[in-house]
Amino acid sequence: MTSEVEQAAGIPYLDLPAQIRAIRTELDTAIARTMDNCSFCLGPDVARFEEDFAKYCGARHCLGFNSGTSALHVAMTLLDVGPGDEVITTPFTFVATSWAIAYVGAKPVYVDIEDATFNLDPNLVERAITPRTKAILPVHLYGHSANLEPLLKICRERNVPLVEDAAQAHGAKYRGKIVGTFGAMSCFSFYPGKNLGACGEGGALITNHEPLAARARALRDHGSTRRYYHDEVGFNYRMEGLQGAVLGVKLKHLDHWTRERRRVAQRYHELLAGTPLQLPREADYAQSAWHLYVVRHRRRDGLKKHLETNRIGCGLHYPLPLHLQQCFASLGYQAGDFPVAEKAARECLSLPIYPELTEAQIETVGQVIKDFFGSP
Ligand SMILES: Cc1ncc(COP(=O)(O)O)c(C=O)c1O
Repeated sequence: MTSEVEQAAGIPYLDLPAQIRAIRTELDTAIARTMDNCSFCLGPDVARFEEDFAKYCGARHCLGFNSGTSALHVAMTLLDVGPGDEVITTPFTFVATSWAIAYVGAKPVYVDIEDATFNLDPNLVERAITPRTKAILPVHLYGHSANLEPLLKICRERNVPLVEDAAQAHGAKYRGKIVGTFGAMSCFSFYPGKNLGACGEGGALITNHEPLAARARALRDHGSTRRYYHDEVGFNYRMEGLQGAVLGVKLKHLDHWTRERRRVAQRYHELLAGTPLQLPREADYAQSAWHLYVVRHRRRDGLKKHLETNRIGCGLHYPLPLHLQQCFASLGYQAGDFPVAEKAARECLSLPIYPELTEAQIETVGQVIKDFFGSP
């Protein structure tokens, strides 16, 4: 059972201090090394992390970025997506997936999601393709792989590249293989709350294609391959040395953390099985990294309030789909255009899930939810 101390403190939605405490000595050593070598922009720790993360994902190349958003921006630039072009993507994701398309002056073309996985529905993609389609950009939302095979089949047939937004899916698997190398390239975020998070901002682009990697390397560094010579308009999107050092430490723990997340998800499945909630399930092709554990119910707002009253943190990912966001009003979408995404936005509720969550805390969350529904 939960101790009185735990109960008084509540159960946070995310407990980053607990994660940092557990690896603090390793982090201090890595950070001190950067302080000594003063390689604050890129440098040896970033290079080592790039090598290690590429290996982890089974990719030939990894480039460190200062955020997942900037990696996605460069991905669109690498494909020469520009004004007048369209990119097919999901309306149910964090807004940054669509920023990348908007930044290059192209148009996000939304396609509804699957009810079971919250991911882009491959059955609806084909009919959204036009001669202006320059890429398909699915997201592995909540750490659960998108349904890649049918998407890749469409890409091959229509000669359109696929870019994976793997910002939430470090180490997630599709048919037994870690996501990130199914498409032409993939982008990751190392925002602190991600499964693999920096102590600040960070991102990466991985690819198996040498020409894409070489251009990405230049684009993130002012479009230059030789200092003070600039081949094309570039960006300052370099990863900081300190983040490379931190990520190098954390990557060693990622598999263990993912196993712990899977333990938490499994316990939630068991504890919440008899409740009226719609629980998240892995598709037969997926091994989720369980970035988020998102349940669904039409009384979501009441349940959220009930959890918060009981000092249990929870979140909404995401309360408003992108086609209904003010910033994309000019695209002309209306309420009702993507009913599955809109329903998911009304019903979704993210429960606490992180490696440090104790059995007692998981049981408390389960019991508080059961109390809400009046079940034993
Ligand atoms: C699906 C998705 N795409 C892109 C991003 C952007 O990453 P960052 O916050 O590192 O810029 C995020 C991060 O929150 C995300 O969840």
